[in-house]
Amino acid sequence: MLDTLHRPLRDLRLSLTDRCNFRCRYCMPVEVFGPGYQFLPREEILTFDELVRTVRASVELGVKKIRLTGGEPLMRRGVKDLVTMISAVPGVEDLAITTNGILLNHQAEGLAAAGLDRVTVSLDALDEEIFARMNGVGAKVDRVLLGIKTARLHGLPVKVNMVVQRGVNEQEILPMIRWTRENGVTLRFIEYMDVGASNGWKMEEVVTAKEIVEIVTSEFPAKPVAATYPGEVAKRWTFADGEGEFGVISSVTQPFCGDCSRLRISAEGKAFTCLFASEGADLRAALRNADDDVEVLDFLRGLWGARKDRYSEERGLISRTKAEMSYLGG
Ligand code: GTP
Ligand code: 5AD
Ligand code: SF4
Ligand code: SF4
Repeated sequence: MLDTLHRPLRDLRLSLTDRCNFRCRYCMPVEVFGPGYQFLPREEILTFDELVRTVRASVELGVKKIRLTGGEPLMRRGVKDLVTMISAVPGVEDLAITTNGILLNHQAEGLAAAGLDRVTVSLDALDEEIFARMNGVGAKVDRVLLGIKTARLHGLPVKVNMVVQRGVNEQEILPMIRWTRENGVTLRFIEYMDVGASNGWKMEEVVTAKEIVEIVTSEFPAKPVAATYPGEVAKRWTFADGEGEFGVISSVTQPFCGDCSRLRISAEGKAFTCLFASEGADLRAALRNADDDVEVLDFLRGLWGARKDRYSEERGLISRTKAEMSYLGG
């Protein structure tokens, strides 16, 4: 199954909820996502059965990796039951979750037992004040670190994602590298992106991948390594002393649309073929119209076959309304 630019479908990202218990300024600024904000009502959200049908159809079309996202996916009730259901689908080779980690300490054991393969935790700073300012709700670093440790204890490999924003947390790059090296965790830096319409993104606030690598290697010499699979998002670097690796996701300064193989499904079942798309296609209608998977399969086949997205390569040439990251799942 290839799109118009000959890219296969490999990676399915399912948003389980548009709600989050954080208000990160670069994602859900509290001025926009305040007490009066209308989140999706329950009946609009895909059920576990609908999510599993989506997984089954996607696997038929070539998907091997599934990632559960949000908002904050651990806020979705019964998420470990969903993990059990998805991990039982033949053909799912890798099932991961992206979480802010604040609820992970309590849920890690259940998720591991249910068949989750690994966890990615978003953590932007180790400094309490910087972290509190960034997450917008005063959440504590220690609780996230405990969640990471508990996940590791239950055998779940952990990656940490850090969004780097100039004037906000670039001084945390080296402390984060030190902590992750000491704790057997892979750190990936993400260039601050112009997703959504709420964060007031400016190019000046992007700390580029090049700058990040210079800061890291000033203290910890490292060498770039080849991608493990085509379409890998993060450029990986291994430390010269053999103590692990780090990655940089440079979607602003070095776009990677050329081999983008990801399909994103919002919590209400809109299918997006790009993180920066204005609108999604109504997968939920296909799911709710018929009980069999044939219609869903046709729907996804048609959608992927017509796909021509490459927003990050065209950035600056086009402007459009974009869906929020908390809605789409990143
Ligand atoms: P691994 O399998 O662990 O390598 O996962 P991944 O790199 O797909 O994972 P992850 O979900 O952790 O991606 C990290 C972040 O990179 C996302 O949250 C996004 O911010 C960004 N990202 C991932 N995929 C894309 C993409 O297709 N386009 C753009 N522009 N950014 C992406
Ligand atoms: N730019 C880059 N990364 C972002 N994320 C959320 N918003 C942005 C943005 N504007 C990250 C989160 C999380 C992942 C899902 O996406 O920190 O790690
Ligand atoms: Fe922050 Fe992730 Fe929640 Fe967005 S979805 S506010 S990035 S924790
Ligand atoms: Fe894929 Fe769109 Fe990101 Fe390009 S900008 S890598 S097409 S999701």
